[in-house]
Amino acid sequence: MPEIFEPVTLGKLQLPSRLLMAPMTRSRASADGVVTALTAEYYRQRAGAGLIISESIQPSVIGQGYLLTPGLHTADQVEGWRAVTGAVHERGGRIVAQLTHTGRIGHPVLYPNGELPVAPSAVASGEQLFSLDGMLDHPVPRALTTEDIHATVADFAAAAGNAIDAGFDGVEIHGANGYLIHQFLADNTNLRTDAYGGPVANRIRFAVEVVSAVADRIGAERTGIRLSPGNPFNNVREADPAPVYLALLAALAGQGLAYVHLIEGGDRDLTRRLRAAWPGALVLNPHPSAEAYPASPESAAEAVESGVADAVALATLWLANPDLDVRIRAGGPYNTADPATFYGGDHTGYTDYPALGQDGSE
Ligand SMILES: Cc1cc2nc3c(=O)[nH]c(=O)nc-3n(C[C@H](O)[C@H](O)[C@H](O)COP(=O)(O)O)c2cc1C
Repeated sequence: MPEIFEPVTLGKLQLPSRLLMAPMTRSRASADGVVTALTAEYYRQRAGAGLIISESIQPSVIGQGYLLTPGLHTADQVEGWRAVTGAVHERGGRIVAQLTHTGRIGHPVLYPNGELPVAPSAVASGEQLFSLDGMLDHPVPRALTTEDIHATVADFAAAAGNAIDAGFDGVEIHGANGYLIHQFLADNTNLRTDAYGGPVANRIRFAVEVVSAVADRIGAERTGIRLSPGNPFNNVREADPAPVYLALLAALAGQGLAYVHLIEGGDRDLTRRLRAAWPGALVLNPHPSAEAYPASPESAAEAVESGVADAVALATLWLANPDLDVRIRAGGPYNTADPATFYGGDHTGYTDYPALGQDGSE
C-alpha cells in the first residue's frame, strides 16, 4: 500500500502527496466577504500540502452562516481569492474552494435585507450565532420552495464557475457538519413531503442535484464532496446513516467525481463499508475511534497505508503547523493549536505559527 508522501491523482488533480489540508473557517474576511492579503499569506505558508481545501465559502448572500466568512458570489470576492490561489500556486501548491451553504445555521443580522435563513424545513437549529451583540439564537428558518431549491442549486454552480475564474484548481461541495446539504440528508431537519423529503431516494436528491450542477459547470474531475455520516454537529440527527450514504454514493458513482471526502466520526466499520461502495478516490479525515481527536500523523499514515483511504485531510495540525509536511517527515515536533484564535482576529494564531527552525528550536 502507498505511503502519505507518495503522489496520487484525484480526477484532474495531480497531487505530489496524500497529506491534504482539511477545510477550516477562520473568519478573517471583510464584512463584504472579501479575503485579504493576510489570508493569501496563511494559505501560502501551507502550500506544502498535497492539496489545500479552503475554508467554507458561501455561494450566495443567504448561504452565509457566520460573521466575516468569505464568499464567491461578487466580483470583489473573486478578485480577493485570485491573490490567494496565485500565492499558493507560486509556491507550487494546489487549492480547491469549499462551497458551503449553511442553511438554517444563519441569522437575519448576517443578511443586508434582514431575511430569515433558509432550510429544507422550518425547524430551528437550537444553536446560536456569535455576533457583535453577543450570542443570538438562530431563528426558525424559512422552508425553501421548489423554485428556491432550483435557484440554490444554480447559486452553487455559479459560485463554482467563479472559483475557477479565481484560479482555484477545483471545488469541494460541503455536504457535511449539519449545513444545508446535510440538513436535506438528515431525518430531523428534513420534514418535507415533496420530491426532496421522505424516503432516502428523495432526501439525497438535493445533494445529487448540487453535485451534478457543479460538475456540469466546471467538470466532474474537478469536483469533490465532503460528507460526515452520523455526525450530530449543529444538531442534525441521522437515525440510520448507512443506507442514506450508501444510496448517495451509488447515485454519484457514475459521475466521475474527483473525490469523496469523509469525516470519520469514530466508526471505522462504516468507513470501510462506504469505501467499498465508492468506485472513485476517497479522502478521509481520519478518526478511527471516538478518542482519536484531533487526527494525528499516526492515524493519517495508518489510513493511507492500510488502504482505507487514498489520501488524508488533517485540520488542527495544519492550522498550527504551516510546514506540517516537513514536520511529519522529520518526526515532529508539532506546535499546539490555540482555540482562542481559531475564529476572527488578526495575524495572531493565523500566520504566526512558526515553521521548524523559526522558533529557535530545531
Ligand atoms: C478552526 C476550525 C474550522 C473549521 N472549519 C471547517 C469548515 O469551514 N469546513 C469544514 O468542512 N470543516 C471545518 N472544520 C472541521 C475540520 O475540517 C475537521 O473535520 C475537524 O477539525 C477534524 O479534523 P482534525 O481532527 O484533523 O482536526 C473546522 C475545524 C476547525 C478546527
